[in-house]
Amino acid sequence: MNAMRAVEFDIKDPSLAPAGKKRIEWAEREMPVLRLIRERFGSEKPLAGIRLVACAHVTTETANLVRALQAGGADSLLIASNPLSTQDDVAASLVADWGVPVYAIKGESTETYNRHVRTALDFKPNVIIDDGSDVVATLIKERSELKTDLIGTTEETTTGIVRLQAMEAAGVLTFPSMAVNNAQTKHFFDNRYGTGQSTLDGIIRATNILLAGRTLVVVGYGWCGKGIALRARGMGANVIVTEIDPIKAIEAVMDGFRVMPIAEAASIGDIFVTVTGNRHVIDEKHFAVMKDGAMVCNSGHFDLELNLVALKNMSESAQQLRPFVEEYLVKANGHRVIVLGEGRLINLAAAEGHPASVMDMSFANQALSVEYLVRHKGKLSPGVHILPKEVDTEIASLKLKALGMAIDTLTSEQVEYLGSWETGT
Ligand SMILES: NC(=O)c1ccc[n+]([C@@H]2O[C@H](COP(=O)([O-])OP(=O)(O)OC[C@H]3O[C@@H](n4cnc5c(N)ncnc54)[C@H](O)[C@@H]3O)[C@@H](O)[C@H]2O)c1
Repeated sequence: MNAMRAVEFDIKDPSLAPAGKKRIEWAEREMPVLRLIRERFGSEKPLAGIRLVACAHVTTETANLVRALQAGGADSLLIASNPLSTQDDVAASLVADWGVPVYAIKGESTETYNRHVRTALDFKPNVIIDDGSDVVATLIKERSELKTDLIGTTEETTTGIVRLQAMEAAGVLTFPSMAVNNAQTKHFFDNRYGTGQSTLDGIIRATNILLAGRTLVVVGYGWCGKGIALRARGMGANVIVTEIDPIKAIEAVMDGFRVMPIAEAASIGDIFVTVTGNRHVIDEKHFAVMKDGAMVCNSGHFDLELNLVALKNMSESAQQLRPFVEEYLVKANGHRVIVLGEGRLINLAAAEGHPASVMDMSFANQALSVEYLVRHKGKLSPGVHILPKEVDTEIASLKLKALGMAIDTLTSEQVEYLGSWETGT
């Protein structure tokens, strides 16, 4: 822990700190890989003298990432990467128990969210951990003078990487950026098993519905979509997949799911989950044909996958039924369409995000990416980079070890065989 100091912050309620501390320590038990990194960082101090801004979902797992970065010597500031994902008790504990300046309030307005992004930039970071690329985009658009002190950035999610690649193509990404999401020990596990479980957790916590026997439509069969479809089937839902990519669509077919266009699925589904990273994938014409009582939610990064402006315009009224459950009465047919979590990441709005065990690997990648940037300061070319494969393998090995599992190693005969071309039939 860094020496305590008075810090500035913008959080909901400092008195929530004791509850947050208990939950942070509970998550830490499930994060053995990150703990090992924190211990090494504590003795080696690879981030000494670094000013670091982390824009992330303010959860118990993120708190443990920030602890590791602090142990490494980084002077860290944390802001929320989504207005609805902050756990206010965690924010309070980070301020009170670890002296981290936190700017995050669950339910903050878009205006406050953007103000926090600018406050973070005023910190003049050397390294930015971003989730969705809002901080990086704002730096490029409004504060380009900060590039001088910037060593590089890391990006947590698929949508953020898509934006970074667009920046690279436009020639404005003039610093290195580590695509943490693209590490295998990140997206194979976090996006698939983390989003798979926590999205259903969010839907269930918000509504308490039974999934068995319901028709659940997954829009987008990428890493997140695969996990949601798999877990929803396991709970007895009839799963339909919609896609725009023929390869992903055929994969869904072979995995045993019904595949059809959203225009067709719209009138069949009981529950819809979007995970495309794309805009308005459920639009006015789809809402217009939904069954009475159909539920829609989003687990993709931004809250634009559902066209909620269109839904509002086509509805006579809207009412809040429970927290994170809002019902719209469609004028044309009198059907009720229920929106969960305001169309924002349902797993973080209505549940707690991914379980710590899976974030252990994602955040091990984050911590090691930050260290990689700092150790290679001035040597990396501008643009999107991924961590070397050995780091991925090392994280997987540590996780297996922590789970008490061993695997085989190649024999020298096998190494020789795999390296030769002469032996065939
Ligand atoms: N909820 C979470 O905690 C969480 C975790 C990880 C990633 N994400 C976010 O979830 C989104 C998806 O991530 P991913 O890793 O699965 O990405 P991905 O690229 O693997 O998958 C996205 C899929 O959506 C499909 N798609 C695009 N437009 C579509 C449309 N109009 N209709 C149907 N399908 C469409 C693409 O073909 C692709 O297969 C991103 O926004 C990512 O940032 C959220």
